[in-house]
Amino acid sequence: MKICMIGTGYVGLVSGVCFADMGNSVICVDKNTQKIKMLNQNKIPIYEPGLKELVSKNYLSGRINFTTDIKMAVQKSDLIFICVGTPTLKNTDSADLKYVFSAANEIAKHINKFKVIVTKSTVPITTGDKIESLIAKKRKRNLFEVVSNPEFLREGEAIRDFRFPDRIVVGSNNKKASKKLEYLYQPIISKGAKFISTNRRGSELIKYAANAFLATKISYINEIANLCEKTNVDIEDVSIAIGLDQRIGSRFLRAGPAYGGSCFPKDTRALTVTASKFNTDLSIIKSVIKSNEKRKKTLTFRIEKILLNKIKNKKITFLGVTFKPNTDDMRESSSLFMIPYLIKKGAIISYYDPTGKKSNFSKLKRVSFADKVEEACYKTDLIIIHTEWEEFKSLDFKRITKKKNFKIFDMRNLYSKDLMNKKGITYYSIGR
Ligand code: NAD
Ligand code: UGA
Repeated sequence: MKICMIGTGYVGLVSGVCFADMGNSVICVDKNTQKIKMLNQNKIPIYEPGLKELVSKNYLSGRINFTTDIKMAVQKSDLIFICVGTPTLKNTDSADLKYVFSAANEIAKHINKFKVIVTKSTVPITTGDKIESLIAKKRKRNLFEVVSNPEFLREGEAIRDFRFPDRIVVGSNNKKASKKLEYLYQPIISKGAKFISTNRRGSELIKYAANAFLATKISYINEIANLCEKTNVDIEDVSIAIGLDQRIGSRFLRAGPAYGGSCFPKDTRALTVTASKFNTDLSIIKSVIKSNEKRKKTLTFRIEKILLNKIKNKKITFLGVTFKPNTDDMRESSSLFMIPYLIKKGAIISYYDPTGKKSNFSKLKRVSFADKVEEACYKTDLIIIHTEWEEFKSLDFKRITKKKNFKIFDMRNLYSKDLMNKKGITYYSIGR
């Protein structure tokens, strides 16, 4: 099939290259000229395991191309995926749909034959209706169909998630358009993914309902972890035991820092706004949002407590600053709250992240990036394991700190509490 991806970010690039790898002809468009230039030089603008190899392979075979020329891309394609960002609109909780509507306007300008226009971006219920009427003002109604096909991949696991999803959701008010998508996804469906066909609004809501549920699960276990800390119960036992109940499920029950990323925070906020437009109070989601905001503070205050409220001139090391491992994405990472707060209190921060230095901290004095774990931990007072990268799982802390009295706050429960105690290391973790 001839496919165009508008927006070549985490979703557009990953799904575009996976479609190409399935044998389709894909054109990835982006208005960011730098991004397109990089891709045409075989450089990948984001950190995502396995992506470079897959892009190179399909670029060399000619199945994927990168361009800023949206007119050419739209005209040459039958299926057009909108994969642009839908961040939170400044000073509100709503999704900012300006990129989506601008892409839809561009598509409308260049339609030359029948197109199926697919929103892969996460968009509030009724956005598909709006895209449809926007294009219908400029083009004959029989020249296009607007379909919703939300994406469920996770950063860091994006290729695997795309190729082996639990389900593919397509929302369309037109059977033919839905069938076209089913045909496109056939290689994935034949490997076991369920194909869910619903109406367009249903598909839009499914995406938000899924993300909000996962966010709820995380906040729930984080609050139970707080109770564990007060009652001498191990959260790991609780997660395992309740997760074995198939009605609950074992995944997304890892207690840790506040959930972050480019999706859960913005999507939970946007869902409450959509609901209120339809006079519905999503009180559970509202409390999840509150709980997650509180979590950032709770763990930060715990850092102060661990250092006996004497933060001034203490060296604090962050191992990992991204919101999760295997990504370079800093969006809504809890480290963005913690580090500036600790700096204000007089701490000296050293951080190491496998994806390198972060511009988010470049304006902060007393924050430095170390390009090795050893350097970041050298003579430190407190090590904070913020992100659970593989390379943080078997460290010999005594050797690398070269200091007698240092402490560890393991926010991801990577280490055994007993082992740490045996080694004589002052060790704190979550919910244990
Ligand atoms: P991103 O910011 O990484 O990429 C969006 C890209 O779109 C940018 O490169 C931007 O330059 C480009 N763009 C914006 N307007 C454009 C236009 N008019 N024409 C051409 N290019 C344009 O965003 P992302 O993380 O890929 O997310 C995209 C959407 O997918 C969002 O709605 C998000 O909620 C959803 N989503 C993201 C993930 C994820 O893991 N990141 C997973 C599932 C769903
Ligand atoms: C999430 C969803 O998992 C994807 O299905 C969805 O497509 C995507 O959002 C989206 O809509 O963009 P992502 O944000 O990439 O994916 O990463 P997750 O693995 O879901 O992690 C999100 C946050 O939750 C991270 O901060 C992570 O540390 C935290 N988390 C996750 C926990 O604290 N505990 C867990 O058990 C799981």
